[in-house]
Amino acid sequence: MEKQEIRTFGRRHGKKLSARKQFLLDNILPAFLPKNIKNTGNLILEIGFGNGEHVRDLAIRHPDSIIIGAEPFMNGVAALLSAITSESDNQILQEYKNIRIWPDDVRKLLHDSELKFSEIWVLHPDPWPKARHEKRRLLNSDFLKLLGTFLDTNGQIIIGTDHWEYFDWIVNEVKKTSLYASFPPLSVIHTRYAEKNMAETDTPKYLVLTNQ
Ligand SMILES: C[S@@+](CC[C@H](N)C(=O)[O-])C[C@H]1O[C@@H](n2cnc3c(N)ncnc32)[C@H](O)[C@@H]1O
Repeated sequence: MEKQEIRTFGRRHGKKLSARKQFLLDNILPAFLPKNIKNTGNLILEIGFGNGEHVRDLAIRHPDSIIIGAEPFMNGVAALLSAITSESDNQILQEYKNIRIWPDDVRKLLHDSELKFSEIWVLHPDPWPKARHEKRRLLNSDFLKLLGTFLDTNGQIIIGTDHWEYFDWIVNEVKKTSLYASFPPLSVIHTRYAEKNMAETDTPKYLVLTNQ
């Protein structure tokens, strides 16, 4: 990631964490960092996982894949760690052994990386609705082009948002790339932001991007 890249997320820290969550961040998170990952198995990336509901769903639906979740908001990282470890001994729960966590800007993970993903998910990306904040929108054409280079042969970028104005804006950004867009009906679990439905729209809209 270039040092001067514009910040696309809000705060990194929220309200004070419980003792258990702070313990998990300090002691358990290092075991989940995506180190020494090779392209030998199937890899799935979720960008901006929030509290991690969909990362957990992916882990269960794809037990033979490695799921990498990227999220710079540490309260969200702590929430995911709390949900995938046992409360009694903080050991990772069996069904979540395939999760890895990148607790930072995804662009730093991708910088210099040679990883290839079968799926890259972005659910309810920050819409930055004010005109003066538009430059903070993550899913601009340059970033979409970059994501396209991280797809494996039949890989897909799956984007969902209930903010329809941002959706249309993304569709327009896609037109500046060589990616192909389709709009299949998708059934995706409700994440925290899907529940919040801050845009007060009827339903999230989904977009799938491929290189061919
Ligand atoms: C509106 S929230 C949605 C969270 C979750 N996907 C959901 O549906 O509940 C958007 C998330 O994207 C994260 N985000 C924004 N820019 C990011 C970046 N460059 N890399 C990784 N995550 C990012 C933010 O920290 C925030 O948690």
